[in-house]
Amino acid sequence: GEVHEAEDIDFSFEGPFGLFDRAQLQRGFQVYKEVCSVCHAMNLVHYRNLGDPGGPEFPEAQVKAIAGTVQVEDGPDDQGEMFMRPGEPADAFVAPFPNDAAARAANGGALPPDLSLITKSREGWTGTFRHLVDGIGGPEYVHAVLTGYEEPPADVEEGPPGKFYNPYFSAGPWISMPPPLNDGAVEYADGTEATVDQMSRDVSAFLAWAAEPKMEQRKQLGFKVIIYLLILSILLYLTKKKLWSRIE
Ligand code: HEM
Repeated sequence: GEVHEAEDIDFSFEGPFGLFDRAQLQRGFQVYKEVCSVCHAMNLVHYRNLGDPGGPEFPEAQVKAIAGTVQVEDGPDDQGEMFMRPGEPADAFVAPFPNDAAARAANGGALPPDLSLITKSREGWTGTFRHLVDGIGGPEYVHAVLTGYEEPPADVEEGPPGKFYNPYFSAGPWISMPPPLNDGAVEYADGTEATVDQMSRDVSAFLAWAAEPKMEQRKQLGFKVIIYLLILSILLYLTKKKLWSRIE
């Protein structure tokens, strides 16, 4: 089957001045935590990052509360034993499975990839490309996969058992991930209606932040550098004019 191109989306964080939408990042984290984290790890993100500037910016007390809801393995203690304790802001996001073999065993042999860098990694683990169109990036791809489940076309023969028809999956059209979202799958505190499209946009934005947590700082620095160079150019031009004024 054919793999379809992702639909372009106007995310707030696109372009040289685009910034993340705080409320959207907070909603996206909620979708990750309540839905995706059942299968997908995010090993590179720590709970404290949820409070960092340029991210979801949850207040400190909420970051602590969020971390405290998980159990983390720690140790060895004085007796050489491992033990479980409540999570702390310094901990990395807990993974749903202890290793890839366990993750595959729970998913019909397929591996749910770690989502920390999913919006940045061009190459799928199958060797196919995730960014299907020039200028349309990873968050669009994630949104397309989440909203892209369809009835297989009539001329398509029956798919492999345990797989779902999704022509947006880079290695598609058959994917081992069951459709993870349905309308109302989460209840947003800010009153936003939790449609499949909305939740997909929100979690895609959250994953874009996770893959580039310093994006806002990068853009702000770039802006300052341009202003600086602009002023420097004007000063150099005026200096040149003055120095050469008697020779012309
Ligand atoms: C694959 C995202 C929920 C199991 C994928 C892919 C993405 C993704 C983007 C494609 C990766 C690629 O291109 O290589 C998400 C998000 C979720 C979510 C954002 C939450 C909204 C789940 C859940 C499960 C799951 C709940 C388990 C029940 C899988 C598996 C694959 C996969 C097994 C590999 C599919 C294959 O190779 O055929 N996921 N996922 N995902 N996901 Fe999810």
